[in-house]
Amino acid sequence: MSAQIIDGKEFAANVRSQVAEHVVRLKADHGITPGLAVVLVGEDPASQVYVRSKGKLTVEVGMNSIEHKLDIDTSETDLLAVVDQLNNDPAIHGILVQLPLPKHLNEDLVINSIAPAKDVDGFHISNVGLLGTGQSSMVPCTPLGCLMMLRDHFGSLSGLDAVVVGRSNIVGKPMALLLLGDSCTVTIAHSRTKDLPDVVRRADIVVAAVGRPEMVPGDWIKPGAVVVDVGINRIAAPERGEGKMKLVGDVDYASCAQVAGAITPVPGGVGPMTIACLLANTLTATCRANGLPAPEGLTA
Ligand code: GUN
Repeated sequence: MSAQIIDGKEFAANVRSQVAEHVVRLKADHGITPGLAVVLVGEDPASQVYVRSKGKLTVEVGMNSIEHKLDIDTSETDLLAVVDQLNNDPAIHGILVQLPLPKHLNEDLVINSIAPAKDVDGFHISNVGLLGTGQSSMVPCTPLGCLMMLRDHFGSLSGLDAVVVGRSNIVGKPMALLLLGDSCTVTIAHSRTKDLPDVVRRADIVVAAVGRPEMVPGDWIKPGAVVVDVGINRIAAPERGEGKMKLVGDVDYASCAQVAGAITPVPGGVGPMTIACLLANTLTATCRANGLPAPEGLTA
């Protein structure tokens, strides 16, 4: 069997165009333009690339994009003051503080200083608690993107066996809660899981989010299962020439694609969905802030 390839680039473009349509209506009917503020501390090259791309796509869907670029040695007090100002700005509906922060800044403290209703990353402890108790919240972008692709593929996820490999706060744990919310039977597996291959072999849905290049081989996959690969790992690619690198996921794509029913590639799978869902969350936050219903199909 050869797996159907789930095209995250196309899926994300579709999500962004739905967001853009809602933004047009928000402006025309209510005179509201969603505003997304991104705070970047320091000059981490990967973070700079992310922030640039977020800014460009935010403007493309018709939203206002505000960037605060702060010096690497910004104090915690000054950073908290910036967040406080954004919390109190009615033109700002979503706030994202780019992670990782420099070591002298307490990430938990900073994230929990964001107004929960503007926490479009879904990282604030209140949003984590709301998600854990099945109440509406801002949901972390990457797991939300995976959920959208899985719902689109299966229709209903009810009763399916899902195995999430990885237990991070950003992907693994919220992913498991979202799948549980859609009535999957969910296992969270990790590096200490006993008989990991057998655990993964039971799954109708495998979400790999461990951050280890090509860790899941095809012979761990039940024939016909859907494989969602969250990993983005840069590894040496000597076959492409000396010093060349390539991006690979957490699953071994070539062997998994032989067995799976459907699979997300790397790059071009889950990756593009993260920013698309950030924009969807910003739209949701804007609607909620104005007493309007959250956009259907763009939330958990
Ligand atoms: N750094 C890498 N990805 C993310 C993300 O999704 N949100 C934030 N805040 N920082 C990141």
